[in-house]
Amino acid sequence: MSRKPFIAGNWKMNMTAASGAKLIAELAPLVKDADCDVALCVPAILIPEMTKAAKGTNIAIGAENVHWADKGAFTGEISAEMLKEYGVKYAIIGHSERRQYFGETDEGVNKRTLAALKNGITPIVCVGETLEERENGLTEKVIARQLEFGLKDVDDIKKVVIAYEPVWAIGTGKTATDEQAQETIAFIRKKIGELFCPMCAQSVIIQYGGSMNAANCKGLMAQPDIDGGLIGGASLKLDFAQIVNYNK
Ligand code: 13P
Repeated sequence: MSRKPFIAGNWKMNMTAASGAKLIAELAPLVKDADCDVALCVPAILIPEMTKAAKGTNIAIGAENVHWADKGAFTGEISAEMLKEYGVKYAIIGHSERRQYFGETDEGVNKRTLAALKNGITPIVCVGETLEERENGLTEKVIARQLEFGLKDVDDIKKVVIAYEPVWAIGTGKTATDEQAQETIAFIRKKIGELFCPMCAQSVIIQYGGSMNAANCKGLMAQPDIDGGLIGGASLKLDFAQIVNYNK
């Protein structure tokens, strides 16, 4: 089963409208012949300007989160409908920073995922273990739980992108080795096969995220189950184009 690779950036709480638009203008010609799907997930306030900046390019704009309700008394939150109005194609859901600093749970991840799907936005659902969990041999158990509860009641799993982001590799410069990333991502695919169906699992795009950069992307992308990357720090600069062009 061939899966189209997908490289996405996650700007996190970085960039301004001016610096973001400048970066997109510089990236656009460098990534225009990419063989993979390309997206930049940006802070919500930058979405209108970045959508304009990316117009006519092959860079899709995504959000870094989405609320589960259609509307209502949820101060500070943003609904899928609001995102859709600006042509947002993707929303990162359940990033470990959201889980760690903002108390997001598997149940919330599930509700956000279902809301994104209902509105035609592709959820990029993040899973991954902490260093302590890995050292205690809990990696598979933790990820199985995140998948089971996070993806509950999803009708068409092929419409979901999964990002495997080992927490210990995020922003630390410590990448999972090609083999570690492949091993866990193969486990994720197997688990999706059990939760949904083995055939659909073969179609699901699974990204690796965690200190992925221009130097290590080739090795990671060469792994049979790794279909792309979710790039933090390296998506804030032109290195992102090198990652997108990993196969050139
Ligand atoms: P870094 O690439 O900066 O490690 O961040 C990864 C990440 O969290 C992407 O969502």
